[in-house]
Amino acid sequence: SSAPLKVAVTGAAGQIGYSLLFRLASGALAADRPIELRLLEIEPALKALEGVVMELDDCAFPQLAGVEIGSDPEKIFDGVNLALLVGARPRGPGMERSDLLSANGAIFTAQGKALNAVAADDVRIGVTGNPANTNALIAKSNAPDIPAERFSALTRLDHNRAISQLAAKTGAPVTDITHMTIWGNHSATQYPDLFHAEVGGRNAAEVVGDQEWIESTFIPTVAKRGAAIIEARGSSSAASAASATIDAARDWLFGSAEGDWVSMAVVSDGSYGVPEGLVSSFPVTTSNGDWEIVQGLEIDDFSRARIDASTAELAEERDAVTELGLI
Ligand code: NAI
Repeated sequence: SSAPLKVAVTGAAGQIGYSLLFRLASGALAADRPIELRLLEIEPALKALEGVVMELDDCAFPQLAGVEIGSDPEKIFDGVNLALLVGARPRGPGMERSDLLSANGAIFTAQGKALNAVAADDVRIGVTGNPANTNALIAKSNAPDIPAERFSALTRLDHNRAISQLAAKTGAPVTDITHMTIWGNHSATQYPDLFHAEVGGRNAAEVVGDQEWIESTFIPTVAKRGAAIIEARGSSSAASAASATIDAARDWLFGSAEGDWVSMAVVSDGSYGVPEGLVSSFPVTTSNGDWEIVQGLEIDDFSRARIDASTAELAEERDAVTELGLI
């Protein structure tokens, strides 16, 4: 169809926004469909956002059919087909994850309600802003008329990081790495799984043949990559987060690669013993805006313990936001 795809981006004047908007406008999401951007920011950031829009104008992107900015989610989300919820309250010095949960609760409550009221019937909602899984849960819980499966949280950056680390270890090109899975929370407890991943069609754990590397290098490197980027760059990952946000949305709307799967945090139906209702990362296949959790994978004790640890953290976050009355 040639009707513009209406895409909302929140936190549009932030770091990730500065990369994400230009890639969306240049066709990275939907190659042959015009795109209309709806950009949400808080009032004090609107002036900076106007500057970003001036730069978008200056790119003269052929596919960019329009840009609207504002600080009222009910106006910005009106009729959107895709909402990328990137804006969030960042973790300040000494701030605990629980402080982060309550600071973000208000944002995702309001945005869930606004999406419920005004988004298009086919809306898909991807949450990048942290704590992403629980923010997605809060937004979903405040949007009773939007089907739960329309909400997801981003673990695609972790997925891409895991592919990159495995490619570097084995010398294989990234295109040879398939069936990667991130399980659980987008946090340091996440479990990047090499026991189902493949390198050139062969089991990745067997190709690597080094359990010590998997446990002591691979898993922590992937799980703590965000911190390593902050350490090196002086600010958190932005271009890679934007790139993963687009990868995830593109696959969701237009389909994941035949014969492979991707990682996406979605509302659990109880698959793999992940408590029903938690927004947890799974291996999924996607097509036409729908996703399905890959079924039937064998989970050994090593993987079981790690999946359980990460989903226990998600359950704690859910309990914390339940106590705060956010869901
Ligand atoms: P940033 O601080 O540069 O930008 C965030 C923007 O959100 C700011 O411009 C702020 O004004 C805006 N904002 C705050 N509250 C808002 C609201 N209620 N409505 C609309 N906009 C609002 O942060 P950055 O680097 O762009 O990161 C954004 C989020 O993405 C952070 O929560 C970060 O932790 C998260 N992140 C998630 C990753 C993932 O893999 N899931 C990876 C990297 C970052």
